[in-house]
Amino acid sequence: MNILLIGSGGREHALAWAIANSPLCDKLFCAPGNPGIDQIARVIDLSITDHPAVIDFCQREKIDLVVVGPEGPLVAGLGDDLRAAGIKVFGPSKFAAQLEGSKGFTKDICAKYDIATAAYGRFRDKAAALAYLDAQGAPIVIKADGLAAGKGVTVAMDIAEARAAVEDIFSGKFGGAECVIEEFLEGEEASFFVLTDGTHALPLATAQDHKRVGDGDTGPNTGGMGAYSPAPCMTQALCDETLEKIVKPTIRALSDMGHPYVGVLYAGLILTRQGPKLIEYNARFGDPEAQVLMMRLKDDLVTLLLASCDGTLGKMSARWFDDVALTVVMCAKGYPGEVIKGTEIRGLEGAAAMEGVEIFHAGTASKDGKIVANGGRVLSVTARGRTVQEAQARAYAAVDRIDWPEGFCRRDIGWRAIEKENSR
Ligand code: AMP
Ligand code: GLY
Repeated sequence: MNILLIGSGGREHALAWAIANSPLCDKLFCAPGNPGIDQIARVIDLSITDHPAVIDFCQREKIDLVVVGPEGPLVAGLGDDLRAAGIKVFGPSKFAAQLEGSKGFTKDICAKYDIATAAYGRFRDKAAALAYLDAQGAPIVIKADGLAAGKGVTVAMDIAEARAAVEDIFSGKFGGAECVIEEFLEGEEASFFVLTDGTHALPLATAQDHKRVGDGDTGPNTGGMGAYSPAPCMTQALCDETLEKIVKPTIRALSDMGHPYVGVLYAGLILTRQGPKLIEYNARFGDPEAQVLMMRLKDDLVTLLLASCDGTLGKMSARWFDDVALTVVMCAKGYPGEVIKGTEIRGLEGAAAMEGVEIFHAGTASKDGKIVANGGRVLSVTARGRTVQEAQARAYAAVDRIDWPEGFCRRDIGWRAIEKENSR
């Protein structure tokens, strides 16, 4: 079959890698793609915001399945427009993608279906938001409603910081003027991923990312500086509890509303003393969590994606390699702030040739036959190992073969899991 993948990040390179290895895949196209994806798929010049153009391309190239990687096109309704044209799509509708696109939408479902989450208030009025803050006190969490690329959340340790965050949101800094103010939850952060066809949920292997830019999980939040799978903090009991008490009721809620959710549902959790609580949903695979999941997936990805589209996930299972996978994200200096683009990256072939290593491109571009940096998160250097320690050592050995003075990465990806390994 012919498949079109939408996106251009490390997540999409990992998905492309798994899709290209599928016996079901004849031709794989990708838009907008990146130079890494270009080595395994046909990267095409297609504006993904121009839905009629995407539909036209799918009809011309006889595309049997479109896989949407990032949230932007989902929230913009690309899935709906493709489906209306009779094209099969892996990824939720615009309505269902509100689980990621609107924190207020998700919170209302949690309230109605009794899903454990932080207590909250939702405000369109600044004065009311400030009054709520004063009544609740700090620490407290302020979130802009809408997509803000992980930058619309402030975990405020005092009231002054909380008030400043509310002022920012209502000044339109994140595009909208609506905020959610929620209770600060204490505990380790964890993620949980399922594939769903709207009725059934198939849990994927566990994976954990590192959100903060600095070693020891310090500094500002980012899209993710690295990840590993499996994630020892998500025990089987916690996975079961999350599936039954958080994910399944959410899938039921969307189905009850007449908009069944088809795609990956990614729950961001805090493991509190009272059990896992939901802090956010994403309507897509995590990036860089997808990179480590794809390295460990034993079964055919395309079969699983098709079963999600066709409503037959109830009959499926997914098997995983026992090996650990770990990925280190290499970023351009300055990330998550302003970065310089266009700096040259050398040594990629030597690093990628190492055993058990895959290098997924994210923000790269190709210029005069050279690979240059073209974004904040630039490469996902991914390795397998029998233990987290071994996977980590391999990933950093590959990182050290990459010659890119203008790049940086964290040096401690997987540290919590390695501590757990060493204490056994
Ligand atoms: P979100 O975009 O909702 O995942 O929030 C970004 C980050 O803020 C999360 O990864 C957490 O580290 C933190 N965070 C979000 N909500 C809460 C909460 N209710 N309590 C504590 N930390 C939170
Ligand atoms: N790694 C976090 C995310 O994909 O949102």
